[in-house]
Amino acid sequence: MDPVKLLGLVVLLALCILCQLTAVHGGGDGGGVGIGRGCKFSAVYNFGDSNSDTGAISAALLEVLPPNGESFFGNPAGRFCDGRLVLDFIAEELKLPYLSPYLDSLGTNFRHGANFATGGSSIRPGGFSPFHLGIQINQFLRFKSLTKALYNQLTPNGKRGPSKGKLSRPEDFSKALYTFDIGQNDLAFGFQHTTEEQVTASIPDILANLSQAILKVYEEGGRFFWIHNTGPIGCLPYNVIYYKSKPGTIDENGCVKPQNAVAQEFNRQLKDMVLKLRGEHPLAVFTYVDVYSAKYALISHAKDLGFVDPMEFCCGSFYGYHIDCGKKATVNGTVYGNPCTDTARHISWDGIHYSQAANMWIAHHILNGSLSDPSVSIGEACHYPKHV
Ligand SMILES: *[C@@H]1O[C@H](CO)[C@@H](O)[C@H](O)[C@H]1NC(C)=O
Ligand SMILES: *[C@@H]1O[C@H](CO)[C@@H](O)[C@H](O)[C@H]1NC(C)=O
Ligand SMILES: *[C@@H]1O[C@H](CO)[C@@H](O)[C@H](O)[C@H]1NC(C)=O
Repeated sequence: MDPVKLLGLVVLLALCILCQLTAVHGGGDGGGVGIGRGCKFSAVYNFGDSNSDTGAISAALLEVLPPNGESFFGNPAGRFCDGRLVLDFIAEELKLPYLSPYLDSLGTNFRHGANFATGGSSIRPGGFSPFHLGIQINQFLRFKSLTKALYNQLTPNGKRGPSKGKLSRPEDFSKALYTFDIGQNDLAFGFQHTTEEQVTASIPDILANLSQAILKVYEEGGRFFWIHNTGPIGCLPYNVIYYKSKPGTIDENGCVKPQNAVAQEFNRQLKDMVLKLRGEHPLAVFTYVDVYSAKYALISHAKDLGFVDPMEFCCGSFYGYHIDCGKKATVNGTVYGNPCTDTARHISWDGIHYSQAANMWIAHHILNGSLSDPSVSIGEACHYPKHV
């Protein structure tokens, strides 16, 4: 190697070591306010279920109905919520636009990422939805290759074409944040069709599939992963209502204890999986985010925080008469399906999905990194943990 190149390489190496040191040094003060350390993610690619679906069910199957979206968007906006989801607060925190669903054919802007999450999706095939994680990953592969092809076509002389502004930049795929919030439906489907013991026994297989999906994105050049664990599924009013409760199975907050125990076991193994990925792939950054603890804290402190009983929900009905949020029926003179008038005081929007007020609280508690491993805020989730 010629000496000039060699010198360049040495300088580069020194710089690299320096920046790593600064990153490690700056990491100690916590709180995500490190000056100049922000990762400036220019795109987010999300995979998940209805907790982060920003319009895929509406695009693919059936439009989400009002009053969904009433508190913020003024229309359902494809979300199973009165307003913004945790994913929307992630976009706000990173100063990016809300993510367009990959499946929407009109009005999309993929410049800053895309959302592959679809309501009902599970990690493994064969659940409630055809759009399981493997399909979402296939969609991402197609999205990425098509983006590259179109981007090159539209810029023959490096000029910005009119549509180019709505495409992801090919070089952004390796700088983007890849977010995962999926697994709740693997458990929910399991509870409906098998015993709690069988669901617990299936966790390693479910997580092997999740690990494969994450590695697929890694092989495609993805390096920054933000992985949500699963929430306290036993606290969803829907699950509580349909649970054939035996004595001693309901905790002090009204949640189904055995279901939450399965979710916690899932999360324990998920964390191990994330630590393993971190050990095996030092070129990537994996952040494990304990959403469970945020949601459970919110439910346990509902009253102090000004919320109504966490088992109440605002839209739809499962008591007496079952009607989904967005529909109405009059039975024996009683109208079912009217939404509540104090949406912002409800943790649960429709018995299954959290309200915007809850999502905002949850986002505030997870995005600054206080519930993450390693403990970094989302804006800093591109820095390698200390041991690297
Ligand atoms: C993160 O935010 C929550 C909620 O505002 C706060 O209680 C917690 O102390 C914050 N943690 C850090 C590390 O800033
Ligand atoms: C998950 O496992 C199923 C088989 O159970 C397989 O068909 C699918 O491709 C796997 N998904 C991923 C992302 O590896
Ligand atoms: C409506 O009234 C009928 C007859 O009294 C009763 O069987 C049924 O359970 C009632 N339905 C609801 C939803 O209250």
